[in-house]
Amino acid sequence: MSVQIGPISTSLYRYLAENSYSHIAVIADEHTNKYCLPKIKSLLPSKFTKIIIKSGEENKTLHTCERIWDIMTKSNMDRHSLVINLGGGVIGDMGGFCAATYKRGIDFIQIPTTLLAQVDASVGGKLGIDFQSFKNHLGVFQLPKSVLIDPDFIQTLPERQKLSGYAEIIKHCLIRDEEKWEEISHKGFEDINFADLISHSVEIKKAVVAEDPKEAGLRKILNFGHTLGHAVETYLLNLGKRRILHGEAIAVGMIMEAFIAYHRSLIRQEELESIEIYLFETYGRVKLTVDEIPAIIKLTAQDKKNRGGEIRFSLLTGIGDCGYDIPVSTSEMKKAIAYYIG
Ligand SMILES: NC(=O)c1ccc[n+]([C@@H]2O[C@H](COP(=O)([O-])OP(=O)(O)OC[C@H]3O[C@@H](n4cnc5c(N)ncnc54)[C@H](O)[C@@H]3O)[C@@H](O)[C@H]2O)c1
Ligand SMILES: [Zn+2]
Repeated sequence: MSVQIGPISTSLYRYLAENSYSHIAVIADEHTNKYCLPKIKSLLPSKFTKIIIKSGEENKTLHTCERIWDIMTKSNMDRHSLVINLGGGVIGDMGGFCAATYKRGIDFIQIPTTLLAQVDASVGGKLGIDFQSFKNHLGVFQLPKSVLIDPDFIQTLPERQKLSGYAEIIKHCLIRDEEKWEEISHKGFEDINFADLISHSVEIKKAVVAEDPKEAGLRKILNFGHTLGHAVETYLLNLGKRRILHGEAIAVGMIMEAFIAYHRSLIRQEELESIEIYLFETYGRVKLTVDEIPAIIKLTAQDKKNRGGEIRFSLLTGIGDCGYDIPVSTSEMKKAIAYYIG
């Protein structure tokens, strides 16, 4: 998988000069249409198809895919066409899924424009959409032709979205790089050099995915914080008003799952404390009540890492190390959520 980090004017120009396509479609949402498309428009052929969808996780649905496939069909896109996904993880996952299934699959490239998509979603070939109330329930593995990352895109990103992406950067440090964790955990969010951290995170994600592209084993470590994090995200998403962003939910999940690791003596108390202090300082505490614990636990049953009804977690085995396929009981999950609630 080719990942280029640098000015989009150079990387996209080069990609289009080296590859020839009969037609190009750009998928964007209203925000990336406004802030990001102007930065690449002059590099595109005059007759490209613009597909604008509504932003937001609630639109990552089969219904939106139908609209995308409809426009691709009406634009007579053939198998030698290219789809450019210009946006955050929602566009990347859904646009990639549409391209990977259109006429049994056409080329697509990812131009991630959120921090989360740059350090995580755009790398690794997981594509898909939500179905009913389940996140990423339908999808495929398919690598993009290229991922073109320009850290400049995140300049127009709202602060809350930046923080959401930062949670995946923290995750990458916790599972693979103790030294980097030491460095970032002693810095405030304001003092961060994003260009440097983006390359660091992409290297970690690329290395893990290269070893295990289809998530047979090692790749599961990237799901640290995601079993309970996803459950909390889905629980709050279904409630509507209290919904939180993906990375915010992962920050919650990382505290809960670090507690489980501590409870099993996989990490030391000081390690749990350093994780907890930094994440609470950076993200605050999401309000949950003890009454809500059973509903959150119920949602972990849909986690894609489960096997034969067992709920399996990726747990830290130290800072910078992570194990996977570790069955966790309902009572441990209960304790972990209660610990987070405080
Ligand atoms: N495929 C994977 O491996 C993977 C990994 C992690 C997350 N994901 C998925 O990614 C999605 C979350 O991605 P996200 O956090 O990027 O959300 P998102 O795509 O919803 O983008 C967040 C918001 O930022 C706006 N935006 C995007 N770029 C902008 C820019 N440069 N300036 C201003 N606004 C901009 C978008 O319009 C949107 O409103 C979830 O659906 C999650 O499941 C996938
Ligand atoms: Zn994530």
